[in-house]
Amino acid sequence: MPDLFKFLKKKEKSSSFEGTAPKHVAFILDGNGRWAQKRLLPRKAGHKAGAETLEKILTACRESGVRTATVYAFSTENWKRTDDEVAALISLLDVYLDTILKRHEAENTRVRFLGDNSPFPDEIRAKIKHVEDVTKEHFYNLNVCLNYGGRAEICHAVNILSEKGVKEAAEKDISAELYTAPTGDPDIIIRTGGEHRLSNFLLWQASYAELFFTDTLWPDFTKEELFDIFAKFSKTNRRYGGYDDKTENKGGITSGVTE
Ligand code: IPE
Ligand code: IPE
Ligand code: MG
Repeated sequence: MPDLFKFLKKKEKSSSFEGTAPKHVAFILDGNGRWAQKRLLPRKAGHKAGAETLEKILTACRESGVRTATVYAFSTENWKRTDDEVAALISLLDVYLDTILKRHEAENTRVRFLGDNSPFPDEIRAKIKHVEDVTKEHFYNLNVCLNYGGRAEICHAVNILSEKGVKEAAEKDISAELYTAPTGDPDIIIRTGGEHRLSNFLLWQASYAELFFTDTLWPDFTKEELFDIFAKFSKTNRRYGGYDDKTENKGGITSGVTE
């Protein structure tokens, strides 16, 4: 095979994941601040670079057959950041909402915002609602966790059940009241930035998720690294507490509720 032809074939192969990708991938996109600090830039420059990486990774996910991506964008604890950083994150969100409005048809993605958005400015909340409305017929799902905390989410679910008069909640009752109810539990959770913790992300839903941690700072995360993780995932034997060691994971079985 001539070298140029080989090169083109390789390029074509690398554009999307060839195996069976997980159906639902969640990301803790961590390391934006350190990425900027390493370059002597303000932390907000790291968040801007991180938003660009997010676009690329979400495209790679869709092209690989991932139906749902859930991203941790702002935690209930992130209000501890400086006013300047919080304002920069809100202004990036504003820009991101406009980008979604421009591209949602082409991206065929239904966007949901998970978390308590009451502390955000009214214009942002109105835009969030608008984005959720105009994208609601699309096939792919993007969950943006915003002012989200796993513990707060469970409390919220329990309070709804109590308002409904449920005295003895079953697991499925709680799952049904979580923000993630429409798209279920993630098959894998990927955390960039070197820390090995969940930082209050999807605490209930992580029960049987496969966890992947990488030292790569989020703005440097590439689709090649994503595909390496998918390849490892596709070889994982997900036993769910059982013992059938012959069944290899054949395709990102999602343990939660899916549409
Ligand atoms: C993650 O990057 C993004 C948000 C929390 C919004 P960080 O801002 O936490 O970056 P590091 O961990 O300080 O490098
Ligand atoms: C987790 O990252 C939250 C998001 C990615 C939005 P943090 O940077 O806030 O987590 P900790 O402080 O390292 O646990
Ligand atoms: Mg961090």
